[in-house]
Amino acid sequence: MPRHVAVIMDGNGRWAQARGRPRLYGHHAGAKRVREIVEACPDFGVEYLTIFAFSTENWKRTQAEVSGLMRLFRRYLTREAQALFESGVRVRFIGDRVRLDETLVRMMDELELMTAGNSRVHLTVALNYGGRDEVARATKRLAREVAAGRLDPETVDETTLARFLDTYVLPDPDLVIRTSGEARISNFLLWQSAYAEYEFVDTLWPDFTRAEFARVVTGFASRERRFGAVLG
Ligand code: FPP
Repeated sequence: MPRHVAVIMDGNGRWAQARGRPRLYGHHAGAKRVREIVEACPDFGVEYLTIFAFSTENWKRTQAEVSGLMRLFRRYLTREAQALFESGVRVRFIGDRVRLDETLVRMMDELELMTAGNSRVHLTVALNYGGRDEVARATKRLAREVAAGRLDPETVDETTLARFLDTYVLPDPDLVIRTSGEARISNFLLWQSAYAEYEFVDTLWPDFTRAEFARVVTGFASRERRFGAVLG
């Protein structure tokens, strides 16, 4: 079974449009699915779940959609905090917090702290996250260490750079799922997914059930992963 599953939750807007409703209605329906999938993880041996909630490119959406999504995140964190804590979920956030509003950032910090003793499922929420942006921010921090004389540039290798990424405490994803029929990775976990398997499903995120998650995760178990080597 995959230890770490990452999900690009796509298709909320189309799901809502198909029902003649505003896009935000789809995001609300999508948020409801998050709980179901988080709770399914332990049943399938998935220890780490990373979800793409908001990308560095999503700021280009209309002001109404962006502020609606931010409101949804704040509301979600308020409403779900206790349930996440009680079901043993450890929550972390990745992405650049600088552009997020103060209230949201405070809630994120509090939830990370509140759930820091949990380990049943590690839920990582990517918020204002972009893979290239993450590598650029990591490089900036690494360069500062070099400039301060604390790091010898000759010793820098993949492991060194990985230590500066937002994901430094997480294992690499084994499986990346994208819903809604698009076969793109959209700047998600670029560095970390070097050897991940990808699964693109047609289902729109608000329709992605526990049963479908089970099917995809079980399908992964039957794949042979070589990591670049030739197996006999
Ligand atoms: C992509 O669908 C989805 C998003 C940009 C937002 C993802 C957010 C959620 C599922 C909300 C809840 C998450 C948390 C952590 C509370 P889209 O709008 O790009 O859909 P489309 O491709 O059909 O337009």
